[in-house]
Amino acid sequence: MTTTIRAKISALGTYVPPRLLTNADLERMVDTNNEWIMARVGIRERHIVDKGVATSDLAVEASKRALAQRGLAPSDIEAIIVGTVTPDMPFPATACMVQQKLGAKGAWGFDLSGACSAFLYSLQVGAQFIATGAHKRILVIGADVMSSIIDYTDRATCVIFGDGAGAAILEPAEDDSVGLIDYIHEVDGSGGEFLYMPGGGSLHPASKDTIERKMHYVRQDGQQVFKFAVRKQTELCQKLLERNRLKGSDIDAFIPHQANQRIISATADRLGLRPEAVIVNIERYGNTTAATVPLAMATAIEEGKLKKGSLVLLASVGAGFTVGATLLRWAF
Ligand code: UT7
Repeated sequence: MTTTIRAKISALGTYVPPRLLTNADLERMVDTNNEWIMARVGIRERHIVDKGVATSDLAVEASKRALAQRGLAPSDIEAIIVGTVTPDMPFPATACMVQQKLGAKGAWGFDLSGACSAFLYSLQVGAQFIATGAHKRILVIGADVMSSIIDYTDRATCVIFGDGAGAAILEPAEDDSVGLIDYIHEVDGSGGEFLYMPGGGSLHPASKDTIERKMHYVRQDGQQVFKFAVRKQTELCQKLLERNRLKGSDIDAFIPHQANQRIISATADRLGLRPEAVIVNIERYGNTTAATVPLAMATAIEEGKLKKGSLVLLASVGAGFTVGATLLRWAF
């Protein structure tokens, strides 16, 4: 039998740009109101970059904080995985820009496109390198500048998204009392038409026509995504709990993708989670796509809900569709 090494998250850093976009700001931009946004989605404000600030800039700030927390130098990092749907540019990979700006000499890396599940997927990809013994220190980042692909005249999407980044360092766990335990991932391409950005890729390269047709912005059928999110997120979490002989009430911290307060509550109810175990910070950040889960981990720490050995369930659903559920024991 092959023995594998369990990976643990040994440090976490997050960063959001300082500028706020509040519901009051949005009321002046589109036909919306604070009451609707709070009741239907649960967002009060989001952080938005200034012009010229890219995804790699947010990722680097978050990474610096994670490295400082662990007392590591950038050159200690062996690989960088950046989960994002808003790379600085189609190529080179944002991971290369992060490597250079951070000064992570000798590291290799790549980007992972998994939309709102990108942080969970990156975490598992990184964990495999730890498991085989190939690497000992991996930087796993979820970062998005959603404001770069949002149409701020479309009230159906512009109230939802924000910008942000989170970075976790993965290292071998000392023993099985901490670290990543199990995961279930699934993609369902039949949901692609409900959340996507059609322009700028090889199918519809950027042109005057694609710009005029606003194909460089996010398009979403919110209700379709909502229904799928509640059903599928619950299903994967339930399967993961069952095969690890756990109940919802055993979870110390449920850290889900922050897309809609109502999706989180519906999932939490169906899983039988303790209300105090459910981590929600959507009110302050909105939906930052790949960054929501690490940002919510930071919130859980702030609220004193993560301690060494805490049993944590991560969950995500996003464009693709992509779905993920991860079970772990917190390591610091
Ligand atoms: O992170 C990626 C995954 N994404 C998600 O998980 C998003 C899932 N979907 C959602 O969170 C919700 O579907 C939305 C927040 C996007 C929309 O909420 P909803 O409750 O599904 O609203 P709806 O689209 O059914 O629209 C209800 C009403 C409509 O008006 P009528 O037709 O009933 O008169 C909309 O035109 O709300 C209207 N509406 C708004 N009103 C004020 C839609 N957007 C707005 C708005 N402000 N911003």
